[in-house]
Amino acid sequence: MQRFRIAPSILSADFAKLGEEVNQVIAAGADWIHFDVMDNHYVPNLTIGPLVCAALRPVTQATIDVHLMVKPVDRLIPDFAAAGANLITFHPEASEHIDRSLALIRESGCQAGLVFNPATPLTYLHHVMDKLDLVLLMSVNPGFGGQAFIPQILVKLRQARQMLDAYREKSGRQILLEVDGGVKVDNIAAIAAAGADTFVAGSAVFGAGRDADPHRYDSVIAALRAELERVA
Ligand code: DX5
Ligand code: ZN
Repeated sequence: MQRFRIAPSILSADFAKLGEEVNQVIAAGADWIHFDVMDNHYVPNLTIGPLVCAALRPVTQATIDVHLMVKPVDRLIPDFAAAGANLITFHPEASEHIDRSLALIRESGCQAGLVFNPATPLTYLHHVMDKLDLVLLMSVNPGFGGQAFIPQILVKLRQARQMLDAYREKSGRQILLEVDGGVKVDNIAAIAAAGADTFVAGSAVFGAGRDADPHRYDSVIAALRAELERVA
């Protein structure tokens, strides 16, 4: 498995050219497409749903990483699986039955992950490790792109890294550790050093190649990777 994954969030893409934007970032060397789903209920913003996921599925072979910021979550899980999502994550506060929602994601044929807001404790992890493929730590409060990285998250990241390493020792299974919010060229190395292996970047990626026509994201993805190379 690759050491690091870069997952551009299409929240900051040009929505009038979404398919092209997806192709451009993947051609530029990104690994996954991060797909932010917001419902104006769990978070104060409204974005895209399964129809858009289904429209993008034939456009790319890349992993589509669906981040559900909706409440409740269960109703939408099979819809996103049918729409071609590879991975589905949700926030524990948004599900009345976390274990059931995780099981539903896997039964639908996707990999499953739990998302932790900046102030949400990692204790939710203890009893569901076996049902997780990925843990996502929010480094901003969810709802909007372009917010500043909350530095205290680096402490939480180290804790999560320890928990996931201990679990791997015991089970032989690797759970990915993703970070979402305010990830930029100038902080990605520190975030990786604290234990993250998968990086969502929205405004940093899509803000960077906008001036060129067609949009070009090669240099920003290369800069993110170069920073990751520096991490021991
Ligand atoms: C925030 C979303 C993020 C967002 C990240 O609620 O979950 O994925 O798009 O955007 P940046 O990288 O601009 O902070
Ligand atoms: Zn996200």
